[in-house]
Amino acid sequence: MDKIRVVGGTSLSGRVEISGAKNAALPAMAAALLTEEAVHLENLPYIGDILTTRDLLRNMGVDADVREDGTATLKASDVRSPEAPYELVKTMRASILVLGPLMAKFQRAKVSLPGGCAIGARPINLHLAGLERMGAKCDVVHGYVDALSPGLHGSYLLMDMVTVTGTENLMMAATLAEGETVLDNAACEPEVSDLAALLRSMGAEIEGDGTRTIRIRGVRKLHGCRHRIIPDRIEAGTFAVASAITQGDVEVAGCDPRHLTAVLTQLSQTGAEISIRPDSFRVRGRSPISSKNVTTYPYPAFPTDMQAQYMALMTQGEGSALVTETVFENRFMHALEMIRMGADITVEGRQALVKGGRPLTGARVLASDLRASASLILAGLVAKGETLIDRVYHLDRGYYHIEEKLARLGARIERIR
Ligand code: EPU
Repeated sequence: MDKIRVVGGTSLSGRVEISGAKNAALPAMAAALLTEEAVHLENLPYIGDILTTRDLLRNMGVDADVREDGTATLKASDVRSPEAPYELVKTMRASILVLGPLMAKFQRAKVSLPGGCAIGARPINLHLAGLERMGAKCDVVHGYVDALSPGLHGSYLLMDMVTVTGTENLMMAATLAEGETVLDNAACEPEVSDLAALLRSMGAEIEGDGTRTIRIRGVRKLHGCRHRIIPDRIEAGTFAVASAITQGDVEVAGCDPRHLTAVLTQLSQTGAEISIRPDSFRVRGRSPISSKNVTTYPYPAFPTDMQAQYMALMTQGEGSALVTETVFENRFMHALEMIRMGADITVEGRQALVKGGRPLTGARVLASDLRASASLILAGLVAKGETLIDRVYHLDRGYYHIEEKLARLGARIERIR
């Protein structure tokens, strides 16, 4: 299994180009199930989760071609089995995103339950409750959701928690349902709006995306389209922290800084100098780094997907910072690995107290999930000596060539095969 080796101590500088957003690309690929016509996607990141989704769609009979240049053509004119097997779902929870489109188009679906993962229990009760209100019957048998409906109908759906893939699943299900669906307390993440834009160009009638109330009027049929995926705000944020933590000077290009308002505001409060242009921003790290508390919430607040990276930065802060995770119940596994590198972090429930100013030393560490892996690389960039990160497959699920991009900015980093 591959490992990543980082030798700390260099300051990053230069320009990095951001790839397409994983979490926008995954629902976009699932949306191709809603039409028999070809859906052409551009700016897909060529990463593990995208290839898993391609395999999942192919397994159902979709003609799915994903190319390394970031383009894909998906044609679901011959779907033979509306099923997502355990083998594929267990490696990627986002497989659940096929449930909504399958129910809309084929009125039946069999999708493995994702189960818990390294960041929490991650139930899908809200996805199922929404589909049931729209007329589906969802049974859980042998670890699978077995769903059937005589045809979905529109409904008023108030979700008790903000769920990103839940909103996406129900929005897709509603596009072909009879009548109007209102999704209340919907997720406002840019990835949800990107999916809404894709669905509109397939002929769907959706308004209100980007707000807490989304209205979808069902149509009889959707058609093929061409759509460009938005840039990955979490990848952009990860490079922003890489610059700040190494006292670097990095231009993060090909992104949408409006999607990173909370992250860039937080970083500027820690002392980093940030200048923003329409499709790029520049981060100049400054010493000392001020320790500032942060709390994760759904968009537009500070994202849970940046919590681990921010914690790495706070290990180098001047003072103490309280990091509060409100989205997932167990997303501090990286803290234990950072402690092994010399960080002073105390975790209690959903809060971690990070006492800064401790020099980190390189160590062998284990990546527990995607963002945890990124945070350990960031810690490695400032640690004395060598950090060896194991279980790099988590990283490869979500970041396109991160070690090459960092190396081009001057990091001493390599993949060991
Ligand atoms: N929740 C429920 N019931 C549900 C659905 C969610 O209780 O039916 C809870 C979850 O357990 C969690 C909270 O609601 O505590 C929010 O979870 P959400 O459903 O929003 O998460 P998700 O849709 O499974 C997406 C991203 C994650 C990201 C979260 C939060 C995709 C494919 N995944 O997951 O991305 O952390 O939203 O923003 O879009 C990552 O990229 O590393 C990643 C984990």
